[in-house]
Amino acid sequence: MIVEKQVPLQAHNSFGIVARAQHLARVRSEADIAALRASPAWAALTQDMPPFVLGGGSNLVITGDVKPLVIKVEIPGRRLLEDSPRGWLVEAGAGENWHAFVQWTLEQGWPGLENMALIPGTVGASPVQNIGAYGVELQDRFHSLDAIDLSTGASFTLDAAQCGFGYRDSVFKHAPADGRGLGLAGRALITRVRFWLPKPWKPVLGYADLERKMAETGITEPTPPQIFDWVVAIRRAKLPDPAVIGNAGSFFKNPTVTPEQCADIIAREPKVVHYPMPDGSIKLAAGWLIDACGWKGRGVGNAGVYEKQALVLVNRGGATGGEVVTLAKAIQTSVYERFGIRLETEPVVI
Ligand code: EPU
Repeated sequence: MIVEKQVPLQAHNSFGIVARAQHLARVRSEADIAALRASPAWAALTQDMPPFVLGGGSNLVITGDVKPLVIKVEIPGRRLLEDSPRGWLVEAGAGENWHAFVQWTLEQGWPGLENMALIPGTVGASPVQNIGAYGVELQDRFHSLDAIDLSTGASFTLDAAQCGFGYRDSVFKHAPADGRGLGLAGRALITRVRFWLPKPWKPVLGYADLERKMAETGITEPTPPQIFDWVVAIRRAKLPDPAVIGNAGSFFKNPTVTPEQCADIIAREPKVVHYPMPDGSIKLAAGWLIDACGWKGRGVGNAGVYEKQALVLVNRGGATGGEVVTLAKAIQTSVYERFGIRLETEPVVI
């Protein structure tokens, strides 16, 4: 097992931040992980700091050279495990590109992931964030995953309940001792993910942008590839392509408030964009809150707020992770001062 030294990370984080991994190992299989753990380098490099697992780097802000051992997950593979009258069970290696995997499932005639087209990143990172878009979250299509406990080398399988999914949240985002019970951050390396795509397929079209597409095209019963194409078009129009402008998608989560808090905000800010949630809470559009504070197009150094969607922070060229973090804090402060709401960030800062 080769551990590379001083590896440039610019191409491995969608923000395009320039930084290096002091040590980086690429793993393509469970056997590679076992070999890495058995190597003399492992003991030396992981003695003081747990390793850092890197997928597509699409939800990451790097604030300097990375000292922990970086494990770059490149496990390939995608296959159908079951085709029953109730649905399709499909598995993918953690290193597969998410969008290419979604496209492949549709080409095979297995619909269900189309609303999550074009989300940057890898299959292995998708449960960490519980990615979601246009009315569908990963947890709605998730079956189970395989992972390796990096501290013991043991393999294990988790079902959806064990992953503790929440809005852009899972056990993989929490440290073992952060009070939420079983936290697996820095400990679990996800190797394979299985998806359950139920039959009969039902379109999810409740999201305003998709309703608009239906009205524009006059198509009221779109096929799965049609929805895929719409989602791709909507995302391309609204969100910057990380290959062109570095970014990590939405930088903040949409906050939830109580109906009383929402009524209070509406009294002061009648135009605030808000959606009732099934549990009775109200979700506010963080993009609207940031936009209302006048942040669109502004920035700190080379880090900026995207002109077309205030929830997305961008690298205008040569931004440092420090500039991104400073900008995020300034946004959080102004949203708190005006609305009394603390915005939580989505990406991992290292
Ligand atoms: N809005 C503004 N100004 C802005 C941005 C948004 O007024 O600068 C308003 C919009 O007009 C709209 C509302 O805020 O009424 C919501 O905006 P949008 O529909 O673009 O969705 P979002 O809440 O900003 C979320 C997810 C996205 C996901 C889309 C579609 C989060 C944090 N973000 O964005 O996910 O693609 O919905 O489902 O939940 C991501 O997590 O990285 C991501 C891109």
